[in-house]
Amino acid sequence: MTHSDCKIDVQCNNTHHSLESGREEKEHWRLAMKLCSVASLATLLFSLLLLSLFFAFSSAAYNVTYDRRSLIIDGQRKLLISASIHYPRSVPAMWPGLVQTAKEGGIDVIETYVFWNGHELSPGKFYFGGRYDLVKFVKIVQKAGMYLILRIGPFVAGEWNFGGVPVWLHYVPGTVFRTNNEPFKNYMQKFMTFIVNLMKQEKLFASQGGPIIMAQVENEYGDTESIYGDGGKPYAMWAAKMALSQNIGVPWIMCQQYDAPDPVINTCNSFYCDQFNPNSLNKPKMWTENWPGWFKTFGARDPHRPPEDIAYSVARFFQKGGSLQNYYMYHGGTNFGRTSGGPFITTSYDYDAPIDEYGLARLPKWGHLKELHNAIKLCEHALLNSEPTLLSLGPLQEVDIYEDTSGACSAFIANMDDKNDKIIEFRNVSYQLPAWSVSILPDCKKVVFNTAKVGSQTSIAEMVPEKLQPSVTSPAKDLKSLKWEVFVEKAGIWGEADFVRNGFVDHINTTKDTTDYLWYTTSVQVDENEEFLRKGSQPMLLVESKGHALHAFVNQKLQVSASGNGTVSPFKFRSPISLKAGKNEIALLSMTVGLQNAGPYYEWVGAGLTSVKIEGFSNGIKDLSTYTWTYKTGLQGEHLSIYKADGLNNVNWVSTSEPPEKQPLAWYKAVVDAPPGDEPIGLDMIHMGKGLAWLNGEEVGRYWPRKASTHEACVDKCDYRGKFSPNKCSTGCGEPTQRWYHVPRSWFKPSGNILVIFEEIGGDPTQIRFSRRKIKGVCALVSEDHPSFELEPRLEDKATVTLKCPRNSRISSVKFASFGTPTGMCGSYTKGDCHDPDSTSVVEKVCLNKKECAVELTEQNFNKGSCSSTEKKLAVEVVCG
Ligand code: GAL
Repeated sequence: MTHSDCKIDVQCNNTHHSLESGREEKEHWRLAMKLCSVASLATLLFSLLLLSLFFAFSSAAYNVTYDRRSLIIDGQRKLLISASIHYPRSVPAMWPGLVQTAKEGGIDVIETYVFWNGHELSPGKFYFGGRYDLVKFVKIVQKAGMYLILRIGPFVAGEWNFGGVPVWLHYVPGTVFRTNNEPFKNYMQKFMTFIVNLMKQEKLFASQGGPIIMAQVENEYGDTESIYGDGGKPYAMWAAKMALSQNIGVPWIMCQQYDAPDPVINTCNSFYCDQFNPNSLNKPKMWTENWPGWFKTFGARDPHRPPEDIAYSVARFFQKGGSLQNYYMYHGGTNFGRTSGGPFITTSYDYDAPIDEYGLARLPKWGHLKELHNAIKLCEHALLNSEPTLLSLGPLQEVDIYEDTSGACSAFIANMDDKNDKIIEFRNVSYQLPAWSVSILPDCKKVVFNTAKVGSQTSIAEMVPEKLQPSVTSPAKDLKSLKWEVFVEKAGIWGEADFVRNGFVDHINTTKDTTDYLWYTTSVQVDENEEFLRKGSQPMLLVESKGHALHAFVNQKLQVSASGNGTVSPFKFRSPISLKAGKNEIALLSMTVGLQNAGPYYEWVGAGLTSVKIEGFSNGIKDLSTYTWTYKTGLQGEHLSIYKADGLNNVNWVSTSEPPEKQPLAWYKAVVDAPPGDEPIGLDMIHMGKGLAWLNGEEVGRYWPRKASTHEACVDKCDYRGKFSPNKCSTGCGEPTQRWYHVPRSWFKPSGNILVIFEEIGGDPTQIRFSRRKIKGVCALVSEDHPSFELEPRLEDKATVTLKCPRNSRISSVKFASFGTPTGMCGSYTKGDCHDPDSTSVVEKVCLNKKECAVELTEQNFNKGSCSSTEKKLAVEVVCG
């Protein structure tokens, strides 16, 4: 029984699970009714018999095993392309679309971590609702006819708060994470068993007819195992054994685990894995994390990995015997609420992935990889059923030829030179190889794909700002301008103090991460004869903190804000403050910005103040570190849940159409309409300082338009050639790392939406906008010799420019078209010396008012004879409207 058979069964059995499936059920009935009207009763009965036989068989389990070459599913070797999509990083309404876009991109498998701290909220108390509805997510993948790899961990790293492990576990006495420690192992085993049983109950393992073909225990432990000393190896071996004892009927993997014991397969995570080999000749070569971009931290640049290099790494991996490759991430999504790891990981987890944070295909990356997947799939049989012959074609050029007994032959020719293009001869044919590229020849003759030749269209995305519209249900409607309601917190202890202590406590040990905020307050007496008062000078505040960020208030006035730098959380500063004669209230608001998510013993990394001094007194420095400090965890507004429907009235909001600007510790509330259209929405916070946002009680997350330094290196155009590292091709120097914050459409009602903002430093809420993410146009540039997928040789060159506007839009005008020698990039193409003057009219004829079109670079369309010595290209930019 093959997996695709299974999927049909599941579609029919699980129709009650989602809206989508409900729709499908209706379609089935409509189809059945039509059939009834045309078919004879006998035919119908016969069809029903066939259908029931089909369903009876299709729920059968299927067998997943492996050998040294690949996974073997029901006796068939499989070459698999996989994609990480993490369910809590989007919303259930987005899941079917994301999975479908992955499938259209040539993906066979969805890979996800399981997020322990999102599920086990306190010991033994589980949550699987909303974004954490793991079963629903797995069933959506199943319904799409795809496989799933479940990386249970339960430690995951993943730029996720505390690496996915619940914070409460750190406070279970005697617990040390990820080592041979009884409490940790005990809780880990309980959680893993719970998840496995849940999957078994829902029949989601392949061994039960479900989509899960592999599961992972731990995550990259091999990289830190030795640092855990005597506890390291025994823990890793225990984890493997415990996983195997779960009897899931499909293989277990451990990534970056060089000593993974049989039958657990060790897999590779890196930007390149062609040189990786598993630790036994009986295990297949699998790549669980190929990073097609990278994550961002507040205040850092925006990293991009060029599609040519991703494709190169993937092609090299399959060339060198790989059989399963996964993109981490294929859709990165959003770290909603306070789920991002830290310190400083942004709320956006876009990752420059093939599907962007908002769920739109990122082009050309998505399209280029789709073509790559098609090309690799054409080689599947030869690749998996023969041993390669390696032929050197030069110092940095090589071909691997896979020829099976049936005579099928596929070849991958690589040019590993990161500077120079090369022309090589292979089987009496000469091939031109761009630098740092792989050509794929599914029949050993014709190049159908070269990793460095991007023919896929590029899309031009923009964020279209929309003023916040007062809602019909809001009393402000008649004012035509939005009315904000404001509540300003007191700086320092609100309500009763939590406790009083001489000196400092650790921030995380105190808040237990129930909030980002901890108040440290004390007071300082200043004699009226103090010199700095007489001179009118300012004393200096000296602070040292383990992190992550701090606002210092004196007598209710914000004096200074500071934070760690990039990914380093400790910081210190020296800054002038204003003190008055008599008693001065010192209120320091310490903040975490996501807890550590990886590294040996990461759970012990602390935060908060370690030293506070004031310099400038006549009798020397005052060291406040030993003073008596009064503590309060969290904000009053958080405590009263004033961002949720049932807590909104817990404070007295002041209503105004001119909310205070630059007001620290301010809560803002507005009742707004949903923005028009159906495009995804980002909340534009460029005019705000730092804080948290909610819509209708749903946590948008931390915002902080902190800027990336102008001193770092950013690029306009990335040279794809050569090894990639996250700092290689960054953009955004001098700009906020994250300006827009994803608010899923499904969180909006048409009107009466309650937007709540907590602003720490002070901003201008009247400038807050919803922005619609729109694809305003698409471009493509294809050369005459661009590889095409037609394996049969044709008389005519069929290089083609294909263009497609997003749904609900059509090609409304042709902004640029030139057949000849155009140059430049999408958005700024220019004509070259050679230009066919009919280019625009040809493209208009084929494309105008269409959703999609294909313009062939043929003699009929263009004047191919002119400027004959040069290779010609067609560049097109169209507007979608
Ligand atoms: C890996 C880790 C992932 C993620 C990735 C970087 O080492 O396994 O969870 O953190 O790095 O995005």
